[in-house]
Amino acid sequence: MSSRSDLTIMRVCFIIFLLGVLVELCDGGITSEYVRGSDLPDDMPLDSDVFKVPPGRNTPQQVHITQGNHEGNGVIISWVTPSAPCSNTVRYWSENGKSKKLAEATMNTYRFFNYTSGYIHHCLIDDLEFDMKYYYEIGSGKWRRRFWFFTPPKPGPDVPYTFGLIGDLGQTYDSNRTLSHYEMNPGKGQAVLFLGDLSYADLYKFHDNNRWDTWGRFVERSAAYQPWIWTAGNHEIDFVPDIGETEPFKPFTNRYHTPYKASGSISPLWYSIKRASAYIIVMSCYSSYGVYTPQYKWLRKEFQRVNRTETPWLIVLVHCPFYHSYERHYMEGETMRVMYEPWFVKSKVDVVFAGHVHAYERSVKKLNLVLPSSIDLPLYLHCPQVIIKYTNAGTCF
Ligand SMILES: *[C@@H]1O[C@H](CO)[C@@H](O)[C@H](O)[C@H]1NC(C)=O
Ligand SMILES: *[C@@H]1O[C@H](CO)[C@@H](O)[C@H](O)[C@H]1NC(C)=O
Ligand SMILES: *[C@@H]1O[C@H](CO)[C@@H](O)[C@H](O)[C@H]1NC(C)=O
Ligand SMILES: [Fe+2]
Repeated sequence: MSSRSDLTIMRVCFIIFLLGVLVELCDGGITSEYVRGSDLPDDMPLDSDVFKVPPGRNTPQQVHITQGNHEGNGVIISWVTPSAPCSNTVRYWSENGKSKKLAEATMNTYRFFNYTSGYIHHCLIDDLEFDMKYYYEIGSGKWRRRFWFFTPPKPGPDVPYTFGLIGDLGQTYDSNRTLSHYEMNPGKGQAVLFLGDLSYADLYKFHDNNRWDTWGRFVERSAAYQPWIWTAGNHEIDFVPDIGETEPFKPFTNRYHTPYKASGSISPLWYSIKRASAYIIVMSCYSSYGVYTPQYKWLRKEFQRVNRTETPWLIVLVHCPFYHSYERHYMEGETMRVMYEPWFVKSKVDVVFAGHVHAYERSVKKLNLVLPSSIDLPLYLHCPQVIIKYTNAGTCF
């Protein structure tokens, strides 16, 4: 008897020793002087410069673009005219092309409790050349507005591309610093992978959807000129049955379109795109994903469609991380991890970008990371095991 319990004690000691070694190995130490302040940053007030309405009556505002098809030579251009349908046409031309083309948008409005949206326009253009600068104009007459964007190179293994990563942005003073930080980065991101949680309008009473409008005006300075690839987060759910709002994701899906049909998805909340040398799969952790669900079935096929010769980089975007040990949102991604981690491993997913957790953790001490030159990720990615993100750290999660 006693020898058996000795053995148990020895085992326990050995495990404690191992744990000690692991803790030692896993301790990344302190890597930054930065300590988050205890004050929560305030939302920028309604009269802030970043929320300014463009001059003129009913001028297009909240202009934003996203990828419009699977290959990358399509774009969806969206904008809001606040008080009347106004012109629903986009005029566009390539930098070296002489002729201007016209494309017609769709238009919708929605209500949320006692809020009525402006006229939301979405215009799909999918006949663009790859690797080209395009100009586009919306609105009419004196208050017509002009923007531009670049299409990505045709998908292929040797086409460099720089993605920016932003998640959990909100509209606080820190959100503005985050966006400015991204814009001022010398690496110059060409498209934003947005990891969910956009406006945080749901923190307001009755989810005051005017805060969706302010957010749209705030990010226009970037999102009108380069595509933001959208992922849905918990702040997009907007499910409030006590005030009669029972359609999840209503403001988000009305305002932000995605090219989901191009990848055979049935929902704008999960889809995939190719962009340059990357194949990007966007998942929704707030839509059902259990066995036999549409998302599950779609994803199973999706992994088979990836051609690593064409797009060597396989990237997954999902709002809720599979791995972290922070106290907030602890293990919220666990059921999804159990379901999908084996698929990710089997399909050799290169990197998963997530948002949601407003904390920094890392699991390696020293980095000697050599990335192939085909994609310029290191700008925002410092370590493959870690989720690095820009966030308005400090507001409500
Ligand atoms: C919506 O209802 C709230 C609370 O009753 C009120 O403060 C707000 O002014 C209303 N907004 C509109 C557009 O009616
Ligand atoms: C937001 O940032 C921009 C660019 O850095 C700056 O011009 C603007 O004044 C800022 N606005 C607020 C409300 O912080
Ligand atoms: C994968 O992509 C390469 C390069 O574009 C192409 O040559 C090949 O035919 C593709 N394979 C399949 C199975 O489609
Ligand atoms: Fe979140």
